[in-house]
Amino acid sequence: MTLNQLKIIEPVAGDYNLPNYSEVRRSFKWEDAGEDLSFNKTGRLNMAHEAIDRHVEDGYGHKTALHYVNGDERVSYTFKEVKEKTDHYARILKENGIEKGDRVFIFLPKTPECYIAILSAIKIGAIAGPLFEAFMEDAVRDRMNDCGAKLLITDKEMVKRVPEKDIPTLETILYAEDIEAEPFIDDGKQYTEWMDAEDGMLIHYTSGSTGKPKGVLHAHRVVTHQYQSGKWVLDIKDDDVYWCTSHPGWVTGSVYGLFTPWLNRATVVIQGGRFKAEHWYKLIAELGVTIWYSAPTAFRMLLSQGDVLKDYDLSSLRHILSVGEPLNPEVIYWAWEELGVRIHDTWWMTETGAHLVVNLPGEKIKPGSMGRPFPGIEVGILDEAGEVVPRGTVGQLAVKTPWPGLMKEIWGNKDKFDSYFKYEGWYVSGDLAYQDEEDYVFFQSRDDDMINSSGERIGPFEVESKLIEHPAIQEAGVIGKPHEVRGEIVKAFIVLREGYVESPELLEEIRVFVRNNLAAHLAPKEIEVMDELPKTTISGKILRRELKRMEIEKSAVDQNA
Ligand code: WT7
Repeated sequence: MTLNQLKIIEPVAGDYNLPNYSEVRRSFKWEDAGEDLSFNKTGRLNMAHEAIDRHVEDGYGHKTALHYVNGDERVSYTFKEVKEKTDHYARILKENGIEKGDRVFIFLPKTPECYIAILSAIKIGAIAGPLFEAFMEDAVRDRMNDCGAKLLITDKEMVKRVPEKDIPTLETILYAEDIEAEPFIDDGKQYTEWMDAEDGMLIHYTSGSTGKPKGVLHAHRVVTHQYQSGKWVLDIKDDDVYWCTSHPGWVTGSVYGLFTPWLNRATVVIQGGRFKAEHWYKLIAELGVTIWYSAPTAFRMLLSQGDVLKDYDLSSLRHILSVGEPLNPEVIYWAWEELGVRIHDTWWMTETGAHLVVNLPGEKIKPGSMGRPFPGIEVGILDEAGEVVPRGTVGQLAVKTPWPGLMKEIWGNKDKFDSYFKYEGWYVSGDLAYQDEEDYVFFQSRDDDMINSSGERIGPFEVESKLIEHPAIQEAGVIGKPHEVRGEIVKAFIVLREGYVESPELLEEIRVFVRNNLAAHLAPKEIEVMDELPKTTISGKILRRELKRMEIEKSAVDQNA
């Protein structure tokens, strides 16, 4: 194997929060992390306090906490205003009987209210369950039922996608419009519930290759990991304007759109509306964004519209971060040559709570690699027996347990939780990778059938289950088909029931069926009808790998033709 044959991007000289990786990596201990956090001094812990209230107590109440931009709409709040708003929401949640440990779901577009609702639930000790804004009825219902949601904060438009009568535990629905319309009462009350490090705080649903999406539960202890990665990897300083493009219904949007930047007192940009190259560039230029976090699909879309760039001054950018899918070297070189900044790839997962493998601003980038282990994180590339393989050899990407960001549990599913820890002392990610002599980690592929489309993790099982609810479908196998911009697209192979005939109308109807019931990003972009699906001879399970192999072979033939 030829390692490191690509051109290295050297660090730009600068005054970075982590000046010397090698030294810190040798000496760092998690016990010493989170030096600015208040629980290290007071012994009292709550994420919402660390992210917002602490800054007001420390005299930064007048600093801008957020800029919200949606079309022509502009709203900004200071940290003091965000604190008051979370107290306001907290009071209303309490009045509605929410107690420590209750599950409070948030189903809102990317607005300040969404961020504030999440924090207010956490403030009073509840477990916040943010839902992606584009989910449809079945996706909303399955997630809220799995962990017995008690209260939902949504708005009067999105509530149309909430099947209230199918969620028996749901006692109350609150509308953000109504909460906003109620006057804030400064009752001087302290709404913060002091939590144990192990108490639940946040639940995100994510796909596995089997079964429905799993509820990954995080505890308040993640603050240490998130604070430290914001300081070192995002390299947040007091005058930074920070923008993460992800919706808080995804873990990138909650951890790196909300908690991590605010734990580091950054001014956060919240942008509404859909992707458009002009709007994104305009936003960076107008607000003077210095740190920008997005995904390779977005960068590839920007790259393909190269001429748009010349109309905007993006010189405020210090660096860009990327996550969710393999970052093409081509994209790194584009940003370096056209924007004059480095893109720092980062690797982590919903389950890991924060960054595990990173590129740091003061260190060289090896394009094709996701970077090196975060200080305090030990990566291992393992073989089937759970032994560490030699450098340069591909194996299972694993991480030594524990670390502060690691999930607390999978809601109601101990077997699933245990399956991540099948080798004593290791968390197994499900990714395949190799590590070079300098510790840089190179992603190869998933080790299972998970699909990664535009950085969104899609479990084939959830899509297949929905497909076979359609009256025309007898069987379905779903795979990720390689795609230039999106990484992969969802492709379904189906067998029709007797009496149904393939037609463009039927296939479109099936696509709409999945889109309307689950979510647009889960609907197959391509559907192929087959007489039968390849299966294992013993258990009769659908062989997704075989479908994928056939698909890749076919597209190779197409390209040669
Ligand atoms: C899976 C986790 C929490 C981050 C957003 C996605 C893939 C993540 C990278 C990267 C290549 C990556 C992996 C991982 N992934 N980062 N830098 N390069 N692949 O979180 O939805 O929990 O998905 O995303 O396959 O296992 P997620």
